[in-house]
Amino acid sequence: MKIGLDMTNLKSFVHDKDVADLLPQLKKSHDDLHSGKGKGSEFTGWLNLPSKTESSFLSELKNLGEEVRKNSDCLISIGIGGSYIGIRAALDFLSREQKLPVFYAGHNLSSGYLQDLFTQLKDKRVTVLVISKSGTTTEPAVAFRLVKQFMAGKYSDTELKQRIICITDEKKGALRAIANKEGYRTYPIADDVGGRFSVLAPVGLVPLALAGIDIASLIKGSQDAEKELSVADYGENIAWQYAANRYLLYRQKKNIEITSFFYEEMHFIGEWIKQLSGESEGKEGQGIFPASVNFTADLHSMGQLIQEGERNLFETFLIVKNTGHELLIPEDKDNQDNFNCVAKKNLDWVNEQAYRATAMAHYEGGVPNMTITLPQFDAYTLGQLFYFYEKTIALTGYLMGVNPFNQPGVEAYKTKMFALLGRK
Ligand code: PA5
Repeated sequence: MKIGLDMTNLKSFVHDKDVADLLPQLKKSHDDLHSGKGKGSEFTGWLNLPSKTESSFLSELKNLGEEVRKNSDCLISIGIGGSYIGIRAALDFLSREQKLPVFYAGHNLSSGYLQDLFTQLKDKRVTVLVISKSGTTTEPAVAFRLVKQFMAGKYSDTELKQRIICITDEKKGALRAIANKEGYRTYPIADDVGGRFSVLAPVGLVPLALAGIDIASLIKGSQDAEKELSVADYGENIAWQYAANRYLLYRQKKNIEITSFFYEEMHFIGEWIKQLSGESEGKEGQGIFPASVNFTADLHSMGQLIQEGERNLFETFLIVKNTGHELLIPEDKDNQDNFNCVAKKNLDWVNEQAYRATAMAHYEGGVPNMTITLPQFDAYTLGQLFYFYEKTIALTGYLMGVNPFNQPGVEAYKTKMFALLGRK
């Protein structure tokens, strides 16, 4: 693996013997996942999705992206949850590769937000992606009605067929029926891939290809991770290591995991991890509560609680080794602010010292922490990261004894909302 896991700051919290005792259970979780004998096995298609992705499909999407970028100034990507967060996480992480701006809709019910979006895009050439696996989710369905009205004010029916692309179930759901009736282009989501595990499926690949991201490298990274994380050996498999230690910390009542990073580009990676972990593990009275913080800003707010609050936390840092930037801090001849110690240093170096200081201080303050290291902000790294987290969370879910692939709690809210809306 090109991404790494450093567990130095777990010592005195997790002991070798704890890990050794857990290994049979971890091996069973791994075997259940791979043999399809575990809970929710009908939704484990994500496990070998990278190796099953055909290069001809990636080329087709690359060509589609070139076609769309010739006739569009931007995309509107409509979706929520697994049909939204991973796309946004990837585009923020890879912002320097992005060739077409993407705006989002259907992830809220905010009238001001949508009105502002329509005003902003009034004179722009727009292509719309509508993404919903079930095709029945309220927020994207309502947003699509409004976006369709906006698009119909700009384009003829014939052009709308070119400019609206739907990503949904192959056969079921209202969105599938609408797409078939209107003749929109569609890409199917496989039955065995659930929403929050779908970022490497057409859900993520189509918008990313349209935005100009190198999806072949993204898939290559996930394929390499798929291979390396299929090895049933604790010493070799960092998903095993991360899952086992998360679970052991959780058993010690460290039931909040804070994912911490030091880069603005990673805010939505934190949101994606929160969805994946929270929706997969949080059921049957169990689950690690996932939080995320953007340092160094949050060191000046949440940092206090992390350092000295209730000791029910553990922390995972996500660190990028080489950001690809060089921003040298100028020298001040009078050294009035007394910061000539950082003069001529790269800003990234200062950021790295902030991470090192924070990891040490939090550890000494009673917060066990791990660090996931990423080589750089590129699609290959991101493909590995996505797959690594999917595998880790599935394993931790099995260790907890829950089905990581359903979301009955979310369904409960949807049912109640339909009732309030009078939807039949
Ligand atoms: O992980 C999940 O399954 C959910 O978060 C869904 O992605 C979310 O509810 C959106 O569902 P859909 O794509 O069916 O509109």
